[in-house]
Amino acid sequence: MHLYRFLTSLYLLLLSVSATFAQNKTYLPTAFPDRVILGYKGDPAISQAVNWRTDTTIKEAVAAIHEADPSPDFTDKAKIVKAVTQKAVFDEHTALYHEVNFTDLKPATQYVYRVGDGKNWSEWFHFTTASDQSAPLSFLYFGDAQNDVRSLWSRAVRGAYSTLPKANFMIHAGDLINRSNNDYEWGEWFEAGGWINGMVPNLATPGNHEYYKDGLKEKVSKHWRPQFALPENGPEDLIETAYYLDYQGKRFIFLNSEEATSGKKSLNEQAAWFEKVITENPQRWNVVIHHHPIYSTKQGRDNDEWRDKMEPLYRKHKVDIVLQGHDHTYGRGINIPVGQSRKKPDGPIYVVSVSGPKMYDIGLQDWMDRAASNTQLYQAISIVNDKLSFKAYTVNGDLYDAFDLEKDKKGVNTLTELSNTLQMQERLNLPARYEKSFKEADLKEYNQRYQDYKKRKGIK
Ligand SMILES: [Fe+2]
Repeated sequence: MHLYRFLTSLYLLLLSVSATFAQNKTYLPTAFPDRVILGYKGDPAISQAVNWRTDTTIKEAVAAIHEADPSPDFTDKAKIVKAVTQKAVFDEHTALYHEVNFTDLKPATQYVYRVGDGKNWSEWFHFTTASDQSAPLSFLYFGDAQNDVRSLWSRAVRGAYSTLPKANFMIHAGDLINRSNNDYEWGEWFEAGGWINGMVPNLATPGNHEYYKDGLKEKVSKHWRPQFALPENGPEDLIETAYYLDYQGKRFIFLNSEEATSGKKSLNEQAAWFEKVITENPQRWNVVIHHHPIYSTKQGRDNDEWRDKMEPLYRKHKVDIVLQGHDHTYGRGINIPVGQSRKKPDGPIYVVSVSGPKMYDIGLQDWMDRAASNTQLYQAISIVNDKLSFKAYTVNGDLYDAFDLEKDKKGVNTLTELSNTLQMQERLNLPARYEKSFKEADLKEYNQRYQDYKKRKGIK
């Protein structure tokens, strides 16, 4: 009997050890390139940056590039470009991050490239440069991935790629992982995106979970700058965390809302930088991306100072759409009082979304035209001439939300609501844990909001 008990406890112990090990799957670097990811360091019509990682044994990292060709004979003719290498020291290990910015490329042209050291090579990947003219584009946008990234977020990034494999790039609105300096979480993020990251460029802005405390100072993850190739045209102390990119006649402005909501100095600095960048803007469409929402999907989670500062600027400078995260629910709408026509938005369309599995309760605020609770989503957005088409999909590929935004000659937008034409009903049930943890008053309040929301939208 004692032996039986002993064997049972040993078995349980082994199970828990293996569970712990599985949870902390390590992703140590080797001499082979991994975490290959495209980004931008300059004009996307004539340049393309790529970043990758190895262990510290690599002495000279290089990339090889050629115009894409269906014959495999290009491999010997590919041009070799030397990488810039930096060492990154983490708690558990040291890694080398290598970066190449391919320049002097031809616009709207497909290329093939690989990265390595002359001996250990990645596979060949394709990418296509942007046109140097105003031209149609499409891109993917993800709210927080953050938790169980390998296990559950992978279906978001892979589903998104399956829906829009020709996306010009992917946008991540912060909280890509949970603990800023945990290498295995970044390992999960790169495993989930896999080779997609080598073909479709990534543009990201950090959330609160990409920050850590170093003494009294808040700092961005030690991984952020070494592992991403992002534009360096933002405010001086926010290099690669706030920046803008012009792509085929559209301007994408990324703000660092974690810094802006942590201190007045950064808030003012970013507001001034935003005004400068958008005033000089020759592009017809403006997309703004940041982590903390201007309008929260939940009561009491608003970032008042952030909103008071930025919302009037977005209106004044005709921002078309603001893509955000942080609230772990989905909400899409505009800042127009309930009951008024929503056809001509006086200000941008605001979107809050979540792509990972961590779910919060939803507030069903007045600004929202379409909402979702307890639902992992990704968004596919296209801008073709004077029309922006927005589509949100559940991670299993069902169309969940849609609208069009059409711009007239004066730059005034007309919103066409399409969510009422969709088959999918709104998913507004609270995540199960809230059904349990909510006190009676909370549930009553939620149900009241639910009823008001349905009434406003004419849902029976
Ligand atoms: Fe967050």
